[in-house]
This record gives sequence, structure tokens and C-alpha cells, in this order.
Amino acid sequence: MTLSPAEAATGADITISHVRKTFETPRGPIEALAGIDLDIAPGEFVSILGPSGCGKSTLLMALAGLEPATSGHIRISGAPVLSPRRKTGIVFQEPTLLSWKTALQNVLYPAEIAGQRKADHAPRARALLDRVGLAGFEDQRPRGLSGGMKQRVALCRALVQDPDLLLMDEPFSALDAITRDEMAELMLDLWSENSGRTAIFVTHSIHEAALLSDRVIVMRRRPCDVLADVPVPFGRPRRMDVVDTPEFTAFSSHLRGLIAEAMGKTEAQRHV
Ligand SMILES: Nc1ncnc2c1ncn2[C@@H]1O[C@H](COP(=O)(O)OP(=O)(O)OP(=O)(O)O)[C@@H](O)[C@H]1O
Ligand SMILES: [Mg+2]
Repeated sequence: MTLSPAEAATGADITISHVRKTFETPRGPIEALAGIDLDIAPGEFVSILGPSGCGKSTLLMALAGLEPATSGHIRISGAPVLSPRRKTGIVFQEPTLLSWKTALQNVLYPAEIAGQRKADHAPRARALLDRVGLAGFEDQRPRGLSGGMKQRVALCRALVQDPDLLLMDEPFSALDAITRDEMAELMLDLWSENSGRTAIFVTHSIHEAALLSDRVIVMRRRPCDVLADVPVPFGRPRRMDVVDTPEFTAFSSHLRGLIAEAMGKTEAQRHV
């Protein structure tokens, strides 16, 4: 299947204003987000990069409507996010497939729980599975699929309702290096065909952030806020071989410096 422009979603636009999140724990409050301000335009592919514990997942959960902010507000296409919205697709680090359902049934699950007729969504679900290279595996249960295949099913499940916003929290980090590269190539292909949809991609990988996105947000810990907002200097359609260019090396090195800063490293420590 080609996710043709005619089928492309109109991407969501996102406004994040003064978002703070504090978790109350028995050991006292933990400030996970210390005031985030971000505007994301329709169709942008934005990576959120930062050290462990800087609040990336917390921000994504707030965008998903799964974890309310303590203060501030998030609007998606003008509407405040108070609960999960149907037009937001989510992919987590673990594929979280239902073990008793087949690949196709897992992809159709969001339609099922929304009380929609599965038959109306089945052609799109099959086409998505085909598009990610899983034609012939529709009737396999998760135990018969590799890690990369399961994550492809999870991606199809997130896309089945034609979301205008796709949220991804380290979706490839549990995969081996070769499978990760394959997934990155798939994402590049999908975003070449279907540039309408907005995407937010949480990652620890400088390589994936530079390769996949239009813009990289670098977050830091203490305070958990935005350190840098960097446009990616590579256009689309984009191919994997962009990584072999000196520009990619230079851009990755720039991001690496920002990550070191986000971790509070001194100039001397960065060169050890
Ligand atoms: N449900 C929770 N209850 C209490 N504290 C939490 C909860 N969720 C997150 N935190 C804390 O909030 C901070 C940010 O966590 P978060 O999971 O957002 O970080 P992260 O940037 O996604 O980290 P990682 O890269 O390791 O996934 C951490 O200090 C974490 O311990
Ligand atoms: Mg996380």
C-alpha cells in the first residue's frame, strides 16, 4: 500500500504552554517537568532527546492524555487535552500486543474497543500490515513473530485509525541494531509518502533523532525543561544514506554536545 497524499491525515498542531508535572511520592515530590513551552506545527516530525529521567515519557503521557499536567496546558488542534483522543496513535517501547489475538486482530483492536465495526477497518489494517512487510503474517499470534515484527504490528495498530498525531516512546530501543535500522528505514519511507501526520518521537539515540526528524528538542534534567530546539538540516524525501554525509556527522556531533550539556558535563569531561 502507498499511504498516498489523498489518504494522508492533516496533521495535528500542538501548543504546550508552561507545562509542569510534579509526582507526589512517599519520599517527597519529584519534579518531572519544570515548565515546558513548545509549539509543534502540523506535519512536523519532532524528536525529543535527553538523558534518562529528564521527563520525556512524562511529557509524552501528558500529550497522550494519560497523565495530567500539574499546571499549564496542552492543546491539540485547538482542543485542550483532558483525556486520550481517538486521533492520537501511540507506540511504546514494548509492543504490548494481546497474546491471544492475531496480528490482524491486534491491529484492529483500537477499532474494537471504540465500538466500531472491525470489517470497516479490516482493509486498511491489512494494507498497513502489507506496507510494513507483514503480508502473510496477518493470522500469526505474537509468539510467532520476532521482536521487530511485533513492533511493526504495534505501529500498524497505532496507524489504523488514521491518526493526525503519532506519539512514540523509544519504539525501537528493545530491538537489535540491524532491526532498528530496518525500522528507521521504514519510518523514513512512511514519512516520505505521508508527510501530513504530526509525529513526536522520544529517543535516547542521537542517530535516530538526526535521521528521522525535522526538528530535535533536547531536554535536560534539573531543571527538567527544554535546553535546545534544533531544526534538522536534511529535507524529505530522505534516504538512509544521508548518514554517510559529512553534514550528518557534523549535525550528530552538534547534538552530542547538547546532550553533554543536558547532562551537566563540563567541557573537559566531554572530551574524556
Ligand atoms: N508515576 C510516577 N511516579 C513517581 N515518579 C515518576 C513517575 N513517572 C515518572 N516519575 C519520575 O519523573 C522523572 C521523569 O521520568 P520520565 O519517565 O518521564 O523520564 P524519561 O526522560 O522518560 O527517562 P528514560 O529516558 O529513562 O525513559 C523521573 O525522576 C521519574 O522517576
Ligand atoms: Mg522514558
